[in-house]
Amino acid sequence: MAVITNIDDLKRIYRRRVPKMFYDYAESGSWTEQTFRENSSDFSQIYLRQRIAKDMSNRTLATQMVGHDVSMPVALAPVGLTGMQSADGEIKAARAAEKAGVPFTLSTMSVCSIEEVARKTTRPFWFQVYTLKDDDFMRRLIARAKKAGCSALVITVDLQVLGQRHKDVRNGLSTPPKLTPKSILDLSTKWRWGLEMLGTRNRFFGNIVGHADGVSDPGSLASWTAEAFDPALDWTRIRHLMDMWDGGPVILKGILDVEDAKAAVAVGADAIVVSNHGGRQLDGALSSIRALRPIVDAVGDKIEVHFDGGIRSGQDVLKAMALGAKGTYIGRAWTYGLGAMGQKGVTAALEVIRKELDVSMALCGRRDIHEVDRDILLVPEDFEGRWAAN
Ligand code: GLV
Repeated sequence: MAVITNIDDLKRIYRRRVPKMFYDYAESGSWTEQTFRENSSDFSQIYLRQRIAKDMSNRTLATQMVGHDVSMPVALAPVGLTGMQSADGEIKAARAAEKAGVPFTLSTMSVCSIEEVARKTTRPFWFQVYTLKDDDFMRRLIARAKKAGCSALVITVDLQVLGQRHKDVRNGLSTPPKLTPKSILDLSTKWRWGLEMLGTRNRFFGNIVGHADGVSDPGSLASWTAEAFDPALDWTRIRHLMDMWDGGPVILKGILDVEDAKAAVAVGADAIVVSNHGGRQLDGALSSIRALRPIVDAVGDKIEVHFDGGIRSGQDVLKAMALGAKGTYIGRAWTYGLGAMGQKGVTAALEVIRKELDVSMALCGRRDIHEVDRDILLVPEDFEGRWAAN
């Protein structure tokens, strides 16, 4: 078995094993991919302060996210199409999260349905929804999540319209993949993926197909978003969607601006996720790590602030926590693991990050994740930018 030392090891195997169309889906940002790249690269502008002769014994990463116990502040972010990265991928990832003691968030755009994931797991998971126009569908979807025992609702608030990812257009991305000479050629080199896929019936968008009306091509993410998503979304509508859920905390994901963070407090959300959708929406927006501190400073005492975007290591998690996040999410990092080695790969991704976080925290002279604060960082003075007045 391959030796996995870091997240990049998983990514290399993932690339070899999964059809190009799905690798590209995960590994893309919108348009020029500037924000996608900077989400990761901006972490390297922040330095950690090495300390010595501090008691580094008996360390703990355990904390809470929205009142739920977590073994480390790293949740699995909602990722669409994961059942195409590996057969029954959502079930494998949820099981790995369960074993690791961290939250798993099921995407509405999952291949395995909410009910299927609930049947195959033993602990409640979180469920993510988009802000769709169809009230009836939203009500039914949210009721299904409640019935399946989901313990938090994550509402994605940054996808009213879809940012274009060129590779998805070129690849003709669809679930399941359409058979063209090009895709057949690619699939022929991904025999392990194909064999596993033949062994499951979960090959469509399980939460959508058969549940949503008026979707002209239920295999196409682009056409579904164009038809079903609500370009006229406002805060009243967000409140209305929040009111459909009474199964626990509501987390609003996709906040990058202080004014929007304040509005999220006013609307009564339990937590926000500072996120630019993995650089998949507004290309040219700030990286999430640059947006984090001003938002924590503005609303961190009124609402739980979580962080998502660009995390590929435990050191990245440590930096986000030190800047004031109360929890973080990984998306691509666990997707690489899933595509590379199924459930074992997701476990490997979580263990890589756990170890890096633990040892790096120790080398900064801290023993408890709650003691991690800005004092462990060296942040360039203008990291968040001194922008010209408008
Ligand atoms: C959907 O949310 C996507 O980013 O593809």
